[in-house]
Amino acid sequence: MLRNRANSVVTCPIPVRSGEKLEVIIATRASITKSLSYRLVNVPAILDFHNHLIPAVDDGAASLEESLGGIATMAAQGIDQIITTPHLRASLLGQRAKFDSYLADVQTSWAILAEAATRDFPQIKLWRGFEILLDVPDVDLSDPILRLAGSTFALVEFPFLSVPPNSARALDAVTKQGYFPIVAHPERYPDVQRAHELVHEWVGAGASLQVNAGSLLGRYGPAAENAGWSLLELGVASYVCSDYHSAGACHTAQAFDAVRARSDNATAELLFSVNPGRIPGSAAALPVGSVQPRKTSAFSRFWARYKS
Ligand SMILES: [Fe+2]
Repeated sequence: MLRNRANSVVTCPIPVRSGEKLEVIIATRASITKSLSYRLVNVPAILDFHNHLIPAVDDGAASLEESLGGIATMAAQGIDQIITTPHLRASLLGQRAKFDSYLADVQTSWAILAEAATRDFPQIKLWRGFEILLDVPDVDLSDPILRLAGSTFALVEFPFLSVPPNSARALDAVTKQGYFPIVAHPERYPDVQRAHELVHEWVGAGASLQVNAGSLLGRYGPAAENAGWSLLELGVASYVCSDYHSAGACHTAQAFDAVRARSDNATAELLFSVNPGRIPGSAAALPVGSVQPRKTSAFSRFWARYKS
């Protein structure tokens, strides 16, 4: 049975498994009432620390309206705490004037978003951080504004085309400062899709791993999907986040359901809710159990190899 917030029953236009309950969330803002979002009612409260909601500072939300629409979409997925993470190239930190200019833009847009979000979404807790591209080997993270909600954790990524050969050393340099790097979407790097040695090097350097929800549903192609599930099967990933860019669908609830189907509720909650929820308090992620290997056909394995 489906119900809206006024508790009236509505028709579900998407397939539902037998016995599964869905709740329809109808966004109240005029700009987003055209679309309905769905979430499983038994998805726990989720903290998402990888997304791009600050208006007009990166490739995420282009306007305040898009930012607020993005928050509404994420809220409908069961997300009630958000650390939003605009892109930042680490090399910019060495170019003070350019960095100060970018930071001023981010500060201005953040202030506008924070005020509007407090007004429109008082139930959503909103922080910020950055998604830092490690394009130089040493990055000084002593300024808490660079870290997730001012905690000891920092969200980092590497250039997509090719992970630099000294990537583990760059992560080690962060941990030596007393901070803890979380590598964003490791499953999306071709170097990781080919072999897992790299992620073991990263974890050995003190990093933890955050898989994108969309990867687990094939939104970035079969190679990222396979790599994402492999990391969960190995039990080396600590977090799943949306990497939502404030446009289109957000797949957190569906990915939660997919993970739970191949493990159990406790494992899915660790990845989506419990471990992310520990970040603002600078608490380390709890160990996550392995998900079951996926049963794939010979053709799908061939196709995945062909596509990669
Ligand atoms: Fe991102």
